Amino acid sequence: MTKPFPHERSQSRPSPAEPMEHNRLHARAGDEGFFRQVVAGMRNGVLAITRDGTIALINDEAYRVMGLEPRSTDIGRAVIDVLRDVPDVLRVLADVFEVTLLANRAELRIKSTGTVIGYTLAHVRSDDGLIVGASMFFKDLTSVEQIEERERLRDRLAAVGEMAATLAHEVKNPLAGIEVLAGLLRRRIPDVPETQTLLADIINEAKMANAIVQEVLDFVRPMRLQVEATSVATAIYAAASLADTHALRGQTGLHLELPEALPLINGDAHQLIQVFTNLLTNAYEALEGTGRITITARVVPRGPRVAGAREHDPRMALLVEVADSGPGIAPEIAERIFDPFFTTKVTGSGLGLAIVRKIVDAHNGRLDLRTAPGEGTVIAVALPVPHPLDEDGDDGTHSDRR
Ligand SMILES: Nc1ncnc2c1ncn2[C@@H]1O[C@H](COP(=O)(O)OP(=O)(O)OP(=O)(O)O)[C@@H](O)[C@H]1O
Ligand SMILES: [Mg+2]
Repeated sequence: MTKPFPHERSQSRPSPAEPMEHNRLHARAGDEGFFRQVVAGMRNGVLAITRDGTIALINDEAYRVMGLEPRSTDIGRAVIDVLRDVPDVLRVLADVFEVTLLANRAELRIKSTGTVIGYTLAHVRSDDGLIVGASMFFKDLTSVEQIEERERLRDRLAAVGEMAATLAHEVKNPLAGIEVLAGLLRRRIPDVPETQTLLADIINEAKMANAIVQEVLDFVRPMRLQVEATSVATAIYAAASLADTHALRGQTGLHLELPEALPLINGDAHQLIQVFTNLLTNAYEALEGTGRITITARVVPRGPRVAGAREHDPRMALLVEVADSGPGIAPEIAERIFDPFFTTKVTGSGLGLAIVRKIVDAHNGRLDLRTAPGEGTVIAVALPVPHPLDEDGDDGTHSDRR
């Protein structure tokens, strides 16, 4: 049985002006070192201030999330000084002693680090119920946000994919019928040249429609990766020559800046070639024959970087950027370009980037888009570089994803 903490015995009723019930702690008494470790080891940020605005307690996670360097001398210092570089948090704390109803599960973005946090505020009361301080608990939501975004996309893809698969399946048979029947007719009337040309056109159109249907079916089929140690640079070189056959190069200059010593990644070479072929094809199409495409690759830390983080993630990613000097993409279009069937082109199927996203996702990679009208387009693909930490399975590649 847990014994009430000693102060319960001496607790007096809160004054009528502060009617909140006095919270009690149920814990073993006299074990301060233990409690300190509880707070220190919490995976939430914890910050407490006294009524006169000085820091009473702060743990490492709080420093990390706020992008600050931990300093033991901060205890007892004015919160305005210590959190000078995180005005977003200061703003939340500013009226914490004036209000009785405090935020529970609120969110804010720390602008200096780009981190989104979910936080809870609480008053700290003395044994006789007076407010003597305030505490803030918070959690880094950045990765939660990213995961939610991915889940939403996956749901959307699954719904669209199912519909497309049914449609494609239904259309495939009549299309094959048209092709066969037109072929029969062609053989029956071999001596009428105009009709022969018309029938040849019908057969060609049916073949083209069939190719699109096949592409849709390929897209909606669950992806199985053939994972092996793969050179991304080799995939890019292969894509460069393949893209030539897909789009008009014209006077476009293609520059590959690929360092020789890039690490191998665990990937499906064939699928990665497809990723870069699709990106390059789009870039050529955007440039319409004049301009410049640059593909660069470098190794960067994985995941969102937090300024001042002491224990940073030792895992790395290979970042490939495909940049073109084309017309760029307007914001209202930019947010849709990875959607299946979204296209602004007369002959496009709108599947190029949806396939890119699906493959990068299956590699547990990330995609990023930087563009503005008139300023060209950069699509960045970050692929995880294998690391022993990945062996726990939290970050490996997935071989059966839609
Ligand atoms: N580099 C780029 N510059 C400008 N717009 C782009 C670029 N890449 C993609 N887009 C826009 O995104 C849309 C979707 O691209 P996506 O590759 O998915 O389909 P598509 O190229 O239209 O057709 P498909 O690739 O199936 O032939 C394009 O229609 C185009 O409007
Ligand atoms: Mg495309």
